[in-house]
Amino acid sequence: MARFEGKVAIVTGGSRGIGAAMVARLVSEGAKVMVADVNAPDQTGEHIAFLTTDVTNSADVAAVVSAAREKWGRLDILINNAGIGSLGETPDLEEEVWERVFAINTRAIFLTCKAAIPVMRDGGGGAIINVASISGLLGDFAMGAYNASKGAVINYTRSLALDCARDGIRVNALCPGLIETEMAAPAVADPIDRAFWLDRVPLGRSGRPEEMAAVAAFLASDDASYVTGAILAADGGVTAHTGQPNAPERIRQRKLRG
Ligand code: NAI
Repeated sequence: MARFEGKVAIVTGGSRGIGAAMVARLVSEGAKVMVADVNAPDQTGEHIAFLTTDVTNSADVAAVVSAAREKWGRLDILINNAGIGSLGETPDLEEEVWERVFAINTRAIFLTCKAAIPVMRDGGGGAIINVASISGLLGDFAMGAYNASKGAVINYTRSLALDCARDGIRVNALCPGLIETEMAAPAVADPIDRAFWLDRVPLGRSGRPEEMAAVAAFLASDDASYVTGAILAADGGVTAHTGQPNAPERIRQRKLRG
């Protein structure tokens, strides 16, 4: 399968974690990929290039879009994956933290889209995938800045999808659940913490970066040619649940106790 033969992509935050898996997946299906990250990637290859890019900096963002076009002549796919987590209840949250979370998770997507959309238009269309989070769909404890920043990404995705539709550019959001990367791994490093987290996941396990890459590849490909403005959760079923207790399980436990 070579769904991305002749296609050129940019993946922000593509040096590790979910982004690195997306780079590998796109390349394995024929794409040429420019990694835009503050840190250099471990993976190299004939079809992988890297430019040090802080996605909060509009000059860096413009430079990486130009670099992709200069090197490979076009831009077809933009994956806005760079992001940071944040914990803290509002009274204790520093203003600078709120600003930083929004700068990386939300404002950066405006910057990359602003730079990339005209180039995609010139090429006759494209696909943009914004990596939001299930934490953009619902609230979490002590994650106000993150919840708000990702919620904004989700509605911005819809707006972009409308504005870009007539240019043949599809825009969709991917909402991962718990994926074990360096960002999330500390939360589940301890076996008791892990059980506590996984208890909430209907599939009973965390997700792998490769599983997010597979969904992003679908959204980026012509297989998703009629999909735009979609908000796709890949979360092992977490957001299928209202959050109410598992009543049948409780009845079973009660019977077991006699
Ligand atoms: P990660 O921390 O492993 O990787 C993030 C990458 O983004 C790193 O390579 C980092 O250098 C880069 N980055 C950070 N700030 C940057 C900046 N200013 N400019 C350019 N690059 C920058 O994180 P992970 O887990 O791979 O997350 C990727 C995306 O997925 C993020 O947007 C995150 O919010 C989202 N996500 C992750 C989940 C998880 O459980 N791991 C769950 C839901 C969403």
